[in-house]
Amino acid sequence: MTIILAHRGYSSKFPENTMKAFVKTAEAGAEGLELDVQMTKDGELVVIHDEKIDRTTNGKGYVKDYTAKEIRKFDAGQKEPIPFLKDVFTWLSGNSMICNIEFKNGLFPYKGMEDKVISLVREYQLEKRIILSSFNHYSVVYANQFAPEIETAPILAEGLYMPWIYAQSIRSKGFHPNFKAAPNEIIKQSLEHNIAIRPYTVNNESEMERLMKAGCSAIITDDPIKAFKVREGI
Ligand code: G3P
Ligand code: CA
Repeated sequence: MTIILAHRGYSSKFPENTMKAFVKTAEAGAEGLELDVQMTKDGELVVIHDEKIDRTTNGKGYVKDYTAKEIRKFDAGQKEPIPFLKDVFTWLSGNSMICNIEFKNGLFPYKGMEDKVISLVREYQLEKRIILSSFNHYSVVYANQFAPEIETAPILAEGLYMPWIYAQSIRSKGFHPNFKAAPNEIIKQSLEHNIAIRPYTVNNESEMERLMKAGCSAIITDDPIKAFKVREGI
């Protein structure tokens, strides 16, 4: 069965990367969610997609220039604050959701971010329910080296010739391609090599159906309800 991961939570209906979007993901019946992590000036892990808070909150400026206390004052939509990763983990402790954490360290190399996330995962004993991913593959390699008990996946914006070989070469058990870079043959070969494939960000019904029928391990979507209905019809 193809697992449904809600991209930034149930973001087609609720403010992305907020507790509300995550709770609604669980209510929608999806098995898991994807979220993005950045770091404040004083080293707090916060859940937000952009390096700047401008697009998703009523504030302005870079996440890295605010302290944890300061950043909590902004409204990320429907009066929801920007969540701390530890708050999401407290909530995850009370359910069985899978959580894909994306290290958003492409623009700024947030010093120590990987170690902080890994420590928090261990503190909350969520090792078996977390997938660490990033466009920054050094972070994925680092996690594979220092936290081999946690699953990882490099994110691939464009197609690779044999992505399953690449995943194997960096000791990841899966990879997350843009869905346009996930033709059926790549899915088939990846699965035959025991490499999980979880395409993003799939919002079109016919694409959802194709990827599910091809046996993808998961799909990452803004609309978990739509994906759920498509899956039921297969
Ligand atoms: O996990 C894949 C996807 O989330 C990457 O794209 O820009 O939505 O973080 P983006
Ligand atoms: Ca993401």
